[in-house]
Amino acid sequence: MNRKQRAKERREKRREDISLLRTIPYSDHERWWTSDTVAVVTGANRGIGFEIAHQLAFHGLTVILTSRVTGVGEEAAKVLQEGGLSVVFHQLDIVDPSSIEAFSKWIKETYGGIDIVVNNAGVNFNAGSDNSVEFAEKVIATNYYGTKNMIKAMIPLMRPSDSGARIVNVSSRLGRLNGRRNRIGNIDLRKKLEDDESLSEELIDQTMNTFLEQVKDGSWKEGGWPQVFTDYSLSKLAVNAYTRLMWRTLSERPEGHKIYVTCCCPGWVKTAMTGWAGHTNPEEGADTAVWLALLPGPSISGKFFAERREINF
Ligand SMILES: NC(=O)c1ccc[n+]([C@@H]2O[C@H](COP(=O)([O-])OP(=O)(O)OC[C@H]3O[C@@H](n4cnc5c(N)ncnc54)[C@H](OP(=O)(O)O)[C@@H]3O)[C@@H](O)[C@H]2O)c1
Repeated sequence: MNRKQRAKERREKRREDISLLRTIPYSDHERWWTSDTVAVVTGANRGIGFEIAHQLAFHGLTVILTSRVTGVGEEAAKVLQEGGLSVVFHQLDIVDPSSIEAFSKWIKETYGGIDIVVNNAGVNFNAGSDNSVEFAEKVIATNYYGTKNMIKAMIPLMRPSDSGARIVNVSSRLGRLNGRRNRIGNIDLRKKLEDDESLSEELIDQTMNTFLEQVKDGSWKEGGWPQVFTDYSLSKLAVNAYTRLMWRTLSERPEGHKIYVTCCCPGWVKTAMTGWAGHTNPEEGADTAVWLALLPGPSISGKFFAERREINF
């Protein structure tokens, strides 16, 4: 058996293990949440986001299923409501500041605050071996700046509790800093992004700006950026770096006001984003984000996970 076949076998075994783990209900001892615990999921009208909303509601939380388009969001929420789940719809476009503001105001007035946010909404315009950067601005605006703006808007709404509030960012292994086949070629930049001392919001934003400028002037191919799905990989690299940065900031909060922040890769999942190609279905793709949202304790904070295991940034 060659290396590829062994890796495939390991992946299949891991997926079987996770399918089994998902059938084990949470015990009363593990349940830190109640039906009053409020979880917000972005981009939840379809795909992995819909399944994250479904599974969180299935575990007994109140889920705010959000979607940028009202009609499809309402339809998606209705499917879950008809299954007896506590799911409420609200419009939310993560690249529209007025939509985030209206959503935040509504949350404050309706629930007083939230306990969990799963930043799932994202876009990618490449498929197969394409590596177009035609939509680079939109990809970075949605996946990185949209996620960042949501985090900034949700933090003041996160309710104090002994269990801690949670932010889970749905990212991708493609955004790893030093992936074997998809890394930042500029070693100085990679080291700066890797090092907690030099990592800053300005550095992440500046990295995105440099890439976007190179896209505009046509020099991006020589820029040493990730080689596969370049714009998408870079947007997720920024999400991962911002997760680490937020962990540093949030870990300073006093007991009772803790917020745990993580990011995860759902795997290669058969959704509209991949043109329905992939290794797994949205139910399995949602699993790690849901598991992270419900895990007790701070030990996970600031880390990157796939298939319920920690992986390197
Ligand atoms: N599928 C995979 O293999 C894979 C692998 C790694 C990571 N991911 C990540 O997993 C997440 C979910 O992807 P998916 O595979 O489920 O894709 P999907 O089926 O295309 O779903 C993406 C969701 O994000 C929403 N969205 C896009 N832009 C938005 C905006 N500005 N505001 C609010 N919502 C917005 C979409 O809404 P509309 O319906 O209105 O477009 C849709 O609900 C993404 O972050 C993706 O990058 C997926």
